[in-house]
Amino acid sequence: MTGLPDGLRLRPAHPQDLDDIMWLEHVSFPTDAWSASQMSGELYSPHGYYVVVETVAEGTAPTVVGYAGLSSLAGNPVADVQTIAVAADHRGRGIGRVLFAELLDEARRRGVHEVFLEVRADNPVAQAMYTAFGFEHIATRPRYYQPDGVDAWVMRAELPAGAGSGSVGPIGQEALDEHR
Ligand SMILES: CC(C)(COP(=O)(O)OP(=O)(O)OC[C@H]1O[C@@H](n2cnc3c(N)ncnc32)[C@H](O)[C@@H]1OP(=O)(O)O)[C@@H](O)C(=O)NCCC(=O)NCCS
Repeated sequence: MTGLPDGLRLRPAHPQDLDDIMWLEHVSFPTDAWSASQMSGELYSPHGYYVVVETVAEGTAPTVVGYAGLSSLAGNPVADVQTIAVAADHRGRGIGRVLFAELLDEARRRGVHEVFLEVRADNPVAQAMYTAFGFEHIATRPRYYQPDGVDAWVMRAELPAGAGSGSVGPIGQEALDEHR
């Protein structure tokens, strides 16, 4: 049970998802999208944990409708949320919440106690989601997002040990196995 609407599933991202993720990246972040090589580096990084939500419908190829990524060095009690986006026509259905919760669950599995992220000062929707998960605005980086010259909010949350959302292992391994 992931809490996703019917017809969607959560699974670990793999490098073959790059094109789908880049399409969503460009429409979600029109002025400051990562390049394909940056995103590819993230998907291959041993420090990263990327997940996608995709459609599941018999007889139809799956479509990636959301993705999110976390990064932490092995043994480091600190992690960073790298990115999260949901396709515009799927927003407001709880997908972002499921993706974000999975990143925090992975952080807990890695023994992380503190998570940081950056969010545009002009993005109240994402800020509301992070606040709902207990993140606090702790600093501002002036004009961090270029070329727009928009400030970044640095947000932080502590992860109390043992306060996970109930998941006991990485999601989607069965889904990956099915496709081998
Ligand atoms: C931020 C984003 C990932 C949220 O995804 P989503 O699937 O729409 O979010 P959900 O439906 O799971 O809602 C999660 C929370 O986000 C907040 N939220 C979602 N839509 C909102 C809206 N229109 N207004 C205010 N808050 C909103 C709420 O806190 C919501 O929790 P609630 O339903 O308990 O109130 C999505 O809006 C998105 O992709 N935005 C563009 C990319 C982006 O800005 N990414 C963040 C970069 S830091």
